[in-house]
Order: sequence, then C-alpha cells, then structure tokens
Amino acid sequence: MSSRIGHDFVPAVIRVQFVCLGNICRSPLAEGILRYLAKIEGVGGQLLVKSAGTTDYHVGQGADPGSVRVAQERGIDLTGHRARQFVPGDFLAFDYILGMDRNNLRRIVAAKPPDSAVVTGLLLDFDPNTSELDVPDPWGGGHAVFCDVYDRIYRGCAGLLAHLRTTGQIG
Ligand code: 4NP
Repeated sequence: MSSRIGHDFVPAVIRVQFVCLGNICRSPLAEGILRYLAKIEGVGGQLLVKSAGTTDYHVGQGADPGSVRVAQERGIDLTGHRARQFVPGDFLAFDYILGMDRNNLRRIVAAKPPDSAVVTGLLLDFDPNTSELDVPDPWGGGHAVFCDVYDRIYRGCAGLLAHLRTTGQIG
C-alpha cells in the first residue's frame, strides 16, 4: 500500500496496537518484539506499534520486571514503557487492534464501532502452528513463565509480520 504526494513516494504506515489487561506484561512484550522484528527485517519505518490495557490498574507504570528481564536478555529494551488504558478512540488511530487473550478481545470488540474497518482479533491468530490462541497471563509468575510467554508472543509477531508482507501491506 502506498500513495504519491507530489513527487515524493510515501509508503503507508500500518498502525498496530496490542491489548492485554494491565499493559505491563504481555502487550508491552508484543509491542517491543514486533518493533524489533520489523527493524531487523528492514520495515521498521512502515509500522507504528503501540500497546494498551483494558483496565486502568497500572496506568503510568513501567513494564513488569519479569517482562523487562526476558526482553532485555533477548536484546529488547522495555524500560521506556509506560502503561496506558485502551480507549474506544483507539479505533480511529490503528489499523489492527489485537488482544492477547479472548477476554481482552471481548473488551476490544465491545468498543468497536459497527462501521469500523479496523482488524480485530488475537495475536496468536497469526501463529499458524498453535491451537492455543490465548497468551496466558504471566503476572506474578517466575522467569520460566515469562520465557514461555515471550516465545508465544514472538511466534505470533513473526506470523503477523509475515501476514503483513504476503498481503502487500508492508514490504
Ligand atoms: P498483563 O498482565 O495483562 O499481561 O499486563 C497483568 C497485569 C496486571 C494484572 C493482571 C495481569 N492485574 O490484575 O493487576
């Protein structure tokens, strides 16, 4: 997808928001991983990636230490993250709004305007190799729990990026 303004070639930016409950564990990881993959695959400038939580429980707080650690160990810095709450107005700001689990997705869909063209679904809809569609909530879990969650989210983000490429939305 692209457009021409005058003589400048302007690639469209695809805007993606990930949503979990608190916006401190899962969706900040998804945000960091997708941005990282897009950058190393050379399409970082074509994606805008954000995240939010369905609740206001942790608004303004940094990412959970468990997520910060597992990301840090894999070269992704989440220390700049600040939690924000998902709002219905996000349907005007994104092309994809993806829940980390089915509870998150119910809240997203409940706020979706009937005429909205925003793609809503689950991150793990984009992982062709899993039948487990929910990313489990790791809050309060140990490092192994966060490592497992990282791996699931990574596979979903890789699949989402492949989808965006094969459908010509980025590339
Ligand atoms: P997240 O994890 O939704 O992946 O950010 C959680 C964070 C906080 C709570 C639950 C899950 N909480 O109940 O406060």
